[in-house]
Amino acid sequence: MSKPLTYAMIGGGTGAFIGEVHRHAIALDSCATLVAGALSSTPDRSIQSARMLGLPEDRSYSTSQELFEREATREDRVDFVVIVTPNDSHFPIAKAALEHGFHVVLDKPATHTSAQAQELADLAVSNNLLCCITYNYTGYPMVRQARAMIAGGVLGTIRKVFLEYHQGWLASDLESTGQKQAAWRVDPDRAGIGGALGDIGTHAENLGAFVTGLEAESVYAVLHSFVPGRQLDDDASVLINYKGGAHGVLTVSQICIGQGNGLSLRVYGDKGSLIWNQECADELVVTLLDANPITYTRGGPGLDNDAIISTRIPQGHPEGYLEAFANVYRGVTDAIRSMHGAGEPSRLARLIPTIEDGRRGVRFVECSVESAAKGRVVCI
Ligand SMILES: NC(=O)c1ccc[n+]([C@@H]2O[C@H](COP(=O)([O-])OP(=O)(O)OC[C@H]3O[C@@H](n4cnc5c(N)ncnc54)[C@H](O)[C@@H]3O)[C@@H](O)[C@H]2O)c1
Repeated sequence: MSKPLTYAMIGGGTGAFIGEVHRHAIALDSCATLVAGALSSTPDRSIQSARMLGLPEDRSYSTSQELFEREATREDRVDFVVIVTPNDSHFPIAKAALEHGFHVVLDKPATHTSAQAQELADLAVSNNLLCCITYNYTGYPMVRQARAMIAGGVLGTIRKVFLEYHQGWLASDLESTGQKQAAWRVDPDRAGIGGALGDIGTHAENLGAFVTGLEAESVYAVLHSFVPGRQLDDDASVLINYKGGAHGVLTVSQICIGQGNGLSLRVYGDKGSLIWNQECADELVVTLLDANPITYTRGGPGLDNDAIISTRIPQGHPEGYLEAFANVYRGVTDAIRSMHGAGEPSRLARLIPTIEDGRRGVRFVECSVESAAKGRVVCI
């Protein structure tokens, strides 16, 4: 087995949410080791958080800028940088990382504007660097199975796509209680122009694009801010016209009391349909025209190779969010090794979401917000 890669994390300090998930996911397959960090928004908290994680003193940085400048001069510089800060700092931090020659893994939504995402994409290409966006739901084995079945023509021509991501955690004015994840998500300066749309709508949009391969042509959106005082949407409904004639309905909401992470996908073609729901992620229900439904299960028989290589433990032992996230990271580290001369990229590397997917997600938000403001269809 080849030597583990090393990485630095920006954000993800004590009390943060997703940074720890990334660290667990990377550690699951021992494919990279955390050796450096600028983990928090203030220098003191960055250093304290680095100590909690046992990082070496000389690689516990106060700011991302310091990290990039000092790591870039080290012989054992990190192989890649994971950026898990709130949305407003994604662009400047990712740009600086790419300019210093580091591969980047950036959480969603990629940037505040699609022009910024395009700039990152161009920079990654010109510097021959990876820029992955952690659309982690693409890592589920049964999502990859769904994608393979649609690509293989099992559903025929796709007619209708339903994408839902429903949560309830922002049903009340949580931001006024000092809950930090809520506070920045409802602030347009920090979150960007999309509320629920940017936070979870980008995941739903990406899931639809990844599984169906369809490209959105235009959107018609209706946005609501149900909780008084909110400037951004906490509920969004978007009708999507896809190139080629298929039609989509995307609904995302963070005011659905009782919902945890209700991300689901239903796709209807002229030969059959499929249904996947992330809260029962090991199952994919496929129904062919005039036939009974068949439930495919992760680890079970008759699955595509993309689902098989994304599975670790036998059927009946549940896998979930962390394993799917880890599948994206196996692809990331395979892709980096391949770019460093280890041969052709593996199948897992070919499945990872890139900054181009991130750009498309930000564009989807921009067009949906414009559509809702103008009350008309907007072309992507
Ligand atoms: N892929 C997913 O499923 C998923 C889930 C949750 C969040 N996210 C995304 O991850 C990002 C972080 O979200 P979160 O919920 O973990 O937020 P959070 O508020 O819990 O954590 C953010 C962390 O970044 C730090 N930080 C802020 N500015 C910084 C800077 N300039 N330099 C270094 N550190 C800085 C904060 O101190 C904190 O430690 C967001 O972009 C969010 O959209 C993705």
